[in-house]
Amino acid sequence: MNTYQKQYQQSLNNPNSFWSEMAKLIDWDQPAKKVLDDSQAPMYRWFAGAKLNTCYNALDRHVENGLANQAALIYDSPVTNTQKTYTYQQLLDEVSRLAGVLTELGVNKGDRVLIYMPMIPEGVMAMLACARIGAIHSVVFGGFAANELATRINDAKPKIVLSASCGIEGKRIIEYKPMLDEAIELSQYKPSKTLILQRPQAKATMQAERDIDWKTAVSNAAPIKCTSLKATDALYILYTSGTTGQPKGVVRDNGGHAVAMMWTMKYLYNIKAGEVFWSASDIGWVAGHSYICYGPLLNGSTTVIYEGKPIGTPDPGAFWRVISEHKVVSLFTAPTALRAIRKEDPQCQHIKKYDMSNLRALFLAGERCDPDTLVWAQNKMQVPVIDHWWQTETGWAIAANCLGLEEFPIKAGSPTKAVPGYDIHFLDSTGKQVPTGEMGAIAIKLPLPPGTFSTLWQNDERFFSSYLNTFAGYYETGDAGYQDEDNYVYIMGRTDDVINVAGHRLSTGAMEEVIASHPDVAECAVIGVANKLKGQIPMGFAVLQSGADRKEEEVINELIELMRKKIGPVAAFKTAMIVKRLPKTRSGKILRSTMRSIADGTKYKVPATIDDYTTLDEITENLKKLGYPKST
Ligand code: COA
Ligand code: AMP
Repeated sequence: MNTYQKQYQQSLNNPNSFWSEMAKLIDWDQPAKKVLDDSQAPMYRWFAGAKLNTCYNALDRHVENGLANQAALIYDSPVTNTQKTYTYQQLLDEVSRLAGVLTELGVNKGDRVLIYMPMIPEGVMAMLACARIGAIHSVVFGGFAANELATRINDAKPKIVLSASCGIEGKRIIEYKPMLDEAIELSQYKPSKTLILQRPQAKATMQAERDIDWKTAVSNAAPIKCTSLKATDALYILYTSGTTGQPKGVVRDNGGHAVAMMWTMKYLYNIKAGEVFWSASDIGWVAGHSYICYGPLLNGSTTVIYEGKPIGTPDPGAFWRVISEHKVVSLFTAPTALRAIRKEDPQCQHIKKYDMSNLRALFLAGERCDPDTLVWAQNKMQVPVIDHWWQTETGWAIAANCLGLEEFPIKAGSPTKAVPGYDIHFLDSTGKQVPTGEMGAIAIKLPLPPGTFSTLWQNDERFFSSYLNTFAGYYETGDAGYQDEDNYVYIMGRTDDVINVAGHRLSTGAMEEVIASHPDVAECAVIGVANKLKGQIPMGFAVLQSGADRKEEEVINELIELMRKKIGPVAAFKTAMIVKRLPKTRSGKILRSTMRSIADGTKYKVPATIDDYTTLDEITENLKKLGYPKST
């Protein structure tokens, strides 16, 4: 019997045979010489010596195997009132011609291509076209501002950038092209060309020397066949927030990733070819990479690109409409989306209008799911609600209830058990295992399974210092939590400066750098405080330079505007205060976690080493004026 326990044990005891068996889910040009290459440990490589093409596995092989006329991608856009379905044949035609354009523009294997696109089919086509020719794509989320885009351009050094004239946020049109122009202006490295998709909602101004019209180029291009790539060649770089303003460029390979994606579609999500799987995320996040683009297509399933929101496009029934119209069997979203729906429609009246009979499960990730939201969703949707825990770095779930293996009883607040391939440990600061039920730093014994990141882009040193150095032989997840007597894991929060705002991972360190850049600010702190809708929101504290004769309100507004301009609206930075001093220890460490406890109204111990107790009183007073702690 293919039970969870059997697969889990095999995956840890004999990873070579386990993953070589799973590799049969992929079509290879050349088999691996070594399944797990540990010759450079602690840097591990999977399927060394093997060759394949990810795009071939996601498109061509399905067309060759009789799925040419099956739906590959459904585009559903309530904000433009559009629906369009692409069959596997149609998607292959589009992608291979777009790959032709990239080739004509001089993009070769190993070159980087930056993708800054809204939620339209061309975003997925762009990723697959890169994969087809072995170019390494780096998708940047549309909610980031020009400055963040520039940072990524400087780091990835893309030969070209693919973008669109605009995105649509609810009823607002967000022009992408001026942000792209500004980012290229700001960055030291200059991409040679941009390919711009003109959308009818906004027309981008083109620079004759640099900008190329997407539609014209694709209609004139010749289709290109797949390039055979090493399993260990990079498929993509995805930047994610670390503790500083410099984001981390997570690198994913081709071979391990393809195998892991197939494994999860089959054994975790339990989805068959031909079934509709909808990840209501964005291609700019890892969930979008894994489960809007690669996972469903590698599996021969149908993916949904939804250009809309859970609420307001036009109402809180939007998700239920998409599920019923496209016969979605599994929805994957972030808990914050459900909280938004619940806030507007607590009784979930809208769901009654739709046929939900095809839906088998709801998967949640991206942030901790509070038990209340989970139970609400279970009651209203009448399907298992599966919380699962993962990270940009891993690319797929570390802990989950694997529906394709064996369904375990759900315990609200826990993403269930370690997924095969992951040996999860809970450690104290000395690296010793903590007892069952006690909180510890969560670390995963190396090697990480296939499909997880191989390094940080051109920065092995940061890869080691950020993840491998704290606990020798382990990957440090940056999360803290505990395990119960049934081996269920509980993920309680981060051990670093990363916060989670509406399922979006952001760095308070990066936000502090922005505030500190204001000419009137002497020092500052940013913390994540609990928020009923978004899980957490950032809150800023600034001390003004002595002699800065400014109205507090004015400075606060400037800080909010600066954050929007430098990081982007996605930072959701709307609350800040000016204080005389920040609470610190005598050694000068800012007491961020104490400040967070005051804001959240949770218990805290005043550290014995605090240098001035009155600083805490000032913070408490200021927070009170803003209505913190909020009553829950
Ligand atoms: N392009 C441009 N701007 C964007 C954007 C994009 N792709 N995505 C978000 N923004 C903007 C929003 O318009 C908003 O701007 P505003 O401050 O001017 O209103 C800001 O960034 C913050 O966005 P968000 O945090 O998403 O808040 P919201 O109020 O617009 O929506 C939710 C709230 C709950 C509906 C929304 O956050 C949501 O659907 N979350 C689910 C997230 C998710 O699926 N994550 C997946 C990770 S696994
Ligand atoms: P990201 O890299 O954007 O996917 O964010 C990863 C982080 O989000 C993790 O390190 C966790 O802190 C948090 N996270 C993701 N999924 C969960 C979950 N199911 N439960 C608790 N936290 C989660």
